[in-house]
Amino acid sequence: MKLSDITNIKILDGQDMYKLVEKNPTVFSRIRYLVFSEISREIHFVAFDKKKIIAVGGLEESPYEKDILWIKHISVDPDYQGQRIATSIMERFYQYAMDNNKKLKHSSFTKQGQRLKPIVHRFDQKYPGVSIDEPLRDFVT
Ligand SMILES: CC(C)(COP(=O)(O)OP(=O)(O)OC[C@H]1O[C@@H](n2cnc3c(N)ncnc32)[C@H](O)[C@@H]1OP(=O)(O)O)[C@@H](O)C(=O)NCCC(=O)NCCS
Repeated sequence: MKLSDITNIKILDGQDMYKLVEKNPTVFSRIRYLVFSEISREIHFVAFDKKKIIAVGGLEESPYEKDILWIKHISVDPDYQGQRIATSIMERFYQYAMDNNKKLKHSSFTKQGQRLKPIVHRFDQKYPGVSIDEPLRDFVT
């Protein structure tokens, strides 16, 4: 599957996400950092292959600072990795923050998540002022 086939990234609140995962019981074994008990607090960016959930990114409103969205997690089903799906979700995070007058704050990067640092750097430049983190300098190009 090519990225162009994934026309379908939906943005869902916690309630709609609960309904969706009920119909996709395998999702928690395939999508690594999606946590059932956290769903109600998050805004989810969900990529599909037909009706199957193949990637999820989650934002959460910071309880401490106004208009800050934490990037809490982003995971792609192992069978679908390396096809720019995480890149596409990450770009949606930036667009969503811009459209809603919010700022983004990144959480720490996992070992595999290091791959996303160049992407974050690219979007920091493409969407200036959206992320409130220090510019990323320690990624390998
Ligand atoms: C990290 C993760 C989300 C990346 O998802 P993905 O859809 O495969 O990523 P993309 O295809 O958008 O690629 C992003 C970058 O990683 C690189 N990449 C992808 N797969 C790679 C691999 N197997 N080895 C090395 N680099 C790889 C891509 O080349 C791309 O960089 P580039 O645009 O500079 O070329 C995915 O590996 C994953 O779900 N991992 C488990 C959960 C996790 O650790 N999440 C990160 C939390 S911070």
